[in-house]
Amino acid sequence: MGDVGNINWFPGHMQKAKREMQEKIKLVNIIYLVLDARIPKSSFNPLIKEIASNRPILLLLNKADLADKAETAKWMNYYKEAGYYCLDIDAITGYNMKKIVPYTYEILKDKIDKNKERGIKLSMKAMITGIPNVGKSTIINTLVKKKMTITGDKPGVTKNQQWVKLDSNLDLLDTPGVLWPKLEENGINLALMGAIKDDIMPIDEVVHFGFDFMNKYYQKSFYERYNIDSINNINDYYDKIAKARGCKNDDYEKINNIFLHDIRHEKLGRVTVDRLTSIWEKII
Ligand code: G4P
Repeated sequence: MGDVGNINWFPGHMQKAKREMQEKIKLVNIIYLVLDARIPKSSFNPLIKEIASNRPILLLLNKADLADKAETAKWMNYYKEAGYYCLDIDAITGYNMKKIVPYTYEILKDKIDKNKERGIKLSMKAMITGIPNVGKSTIINTLVKKKMTITGDKPGVTKNQQWVKLDSNLDLLDTPGVLWPKLEENGINLALMGAIKDDIMPIDEVVHFGFDFMNKYYQKSFYERYNIDSINNINDYYDKIAKARGCKNDDYEKINNIFLHDIRHEKLGRVTVDRLTSIWEKII
């Protein structure tokens, strides 16, 4: 796994992001943790459990339109069994987005009922968090589309943090909390999906992993896209892609970029890179 262990970007960001998140989380009743449905485990930072301090977590498996449906169903079961609430969504087309508010009320029912009994009239509050590029801003925009009612700063709340009304009794913090991905054995999966910058991991290694991954799990769409019939070694991939896409077979940079663009943008079909195999089977 190359140099992942030596990457020195992680701890500083983590500490700062953690402190900021802890402050924000004090203001809310529920956390929406956005995951990339293609890497539902690699985009899950387990630190969330600690900083959520007993608040319910609703996992939103976003970009479900790009992920393998059967694998998404497996991951949803996995997370439900582990005690999380979860929904698969697609923030661009709006798939399942309308379920978020009613599901939130269902999850917070006990709290809402208790407030009612005590005569307390308080809106419920939610925030969105997740690693960069999973679609947090897109989700916020889709949720508040055409009813962007800014309710203004609340007393004691840092300026710039504003609330938008999702419903008469549900407010959403309009600035997403950013968590940083944990770069362990999942670093290459994050890199393949573009969830971390392309200069963090050796790009050749990421692409070669991607070739083998596609060959193993989605061979049909992979072979069809680049007219591949059989593969004997890594150079065969470069030869076939170069031929199919009209570039030189030693222009590795270009071929790498073609492949990465294609796998990330559904040109090779829907893909789920995190697989529920032995390394993930430990419930988180
Ligand atoms: P962030 O706030 O978590 O950092 O993510 P953001 O909303 O900026 O979304 C990152 C990219 O993902 C955007 O594309 C956005 O359009 C795309 N995206 C968000 N939700 C979905 C979804 O449900 N399905 C699909 N297919 N795409 C989604 P971008 O800026 O063009 O970047 P990229 O697509 O090249 O990564």
